[in-house]
Amino acid sequence: MNQELYKTNLGKMIVGDSVELFSSYLKRHYKNKINLIVTSPPFPLNSKKMYGNLTGETYLKWFTDLAPIFSDLLTDDGSLIIEIGNAWEPKRPVQSLLHLKSLLALVENQSANLRLIQEFIAYNPAKLPSPAQWVTVNRIRTVDSYTHIWWIAKSDYPKADNSKALRPYSKSMQRLLKTKKYNAGKRPSEHNISSDGFSKDNGGSIAHNFFELDSLDEGREVRLPHNVLSFANTSSNDHFLRTCRERGITPHPARMNGGLVNFFIEFLTEENDLIFDPFAGSNTTGYCAEKLNRKWLSIEANKEYAKSSLIRFENPANTAETKKESMRAK
Ligand SMILES: C[S@@+](CC[C@H](N)C(=O)[O-])C[C@H]1O[C@@H](n2cnc3c(N)ncnc32)[C@H](O)[C@@H]1O
Repeated sequence: MNQELYKTNLGKMIVGDSVELFSSYLKRHYKNKINLIVTSPPFPLNSKKMYGNLTGETYLKWFTDLAPIFSDLLTDDGSLIIEIGNAWEPKRPVQSLLHLKSLLALVENQSANLRLIQEFIAYNPAKLPSPAQWVTVNRIRTVDSYTHIWWIAKSDYPKADNSKALRPYSKSMQRLLKTKKYNAGKRPSEHNISSDGFSKDNGGSIAHNFFELDSLDEGREVRLPHNVLSFANTSSNDHFLRTCRERGITPHPARMNGGLVNFFIEFLTEENDLIFDPFAGSNTTGYCAEKLNRKWLSIEANKEYAKSSLIRFENPANTAETKKESMRAK
């Protein structure tokens, strides 16, 4: 049974089980209609306590069965973005292979036609030391500090435009664009650099598949894509956390970084495209989609999480703030 919890101008949040909803509601209304799925699925690492008990082989089977579902819902040039962390073997200082097995099983599932387009790494230097037993107590492992982001699609050429999600230029490049002076000629690498090759301002440089979400030290410049940068510590995120605190609500424990979601929305979709998050949690995806003028659909099994996600849309500063942010980023 699906239950529409709330609606906005561009999207709706449904409480229910995405897998169950697929064979009825989703297939009926959304087959081949979704341009982008962005999601961080439940994972044994963080899911045991909060969202169910699937582990090991049972999890792998559940995850693999998502392949035909995602494939059916996506448009032919659509993309699937999955964020997933590392996991560790219970009571052992040994990393689990479950995420790797999950990726292989998903893209090799014969009843779907998916492939890994590119892997991204989201490095978070501010991540708390984990796994705590091995890192802070026994001191025999290092801090697990990144998540994997897999970009998967039904074709080799999903819709994508990296000029829509640029990184700010480095200081030296900015100087170069100003002075237009460049040491042209042949490099030891055999690359021949023309005298005007670097003089055109394209608004930023091409993004990398490695996001450093925070600066490692003050002296070091972090050059994230514009939208990743503009989302950091914004009042929209503050609003969500502050309001949860005021109302005595525990905020969702595994929220995605909104900047990353913004990046993939801008990179892989156009305005009015439809974006789906089947494991929506606090609905970071729906909120980012709404801000960027995309239609969205979110499904979350836990009613309390789904209810609290509405707080994101209550932010009175939403519109003005969005405008300010994107102006700052440009
Ligand atoms: C890692 S969290 C996602 C957090 C979200 N990306 C955010 O930014 O808040 C995974 C979510 O999937 C939900 N979930 C687990 N199984 C589900 C299912 N079968 N259908 C819908 N939601 C499910 C869990 O309740 C949990 O909130």
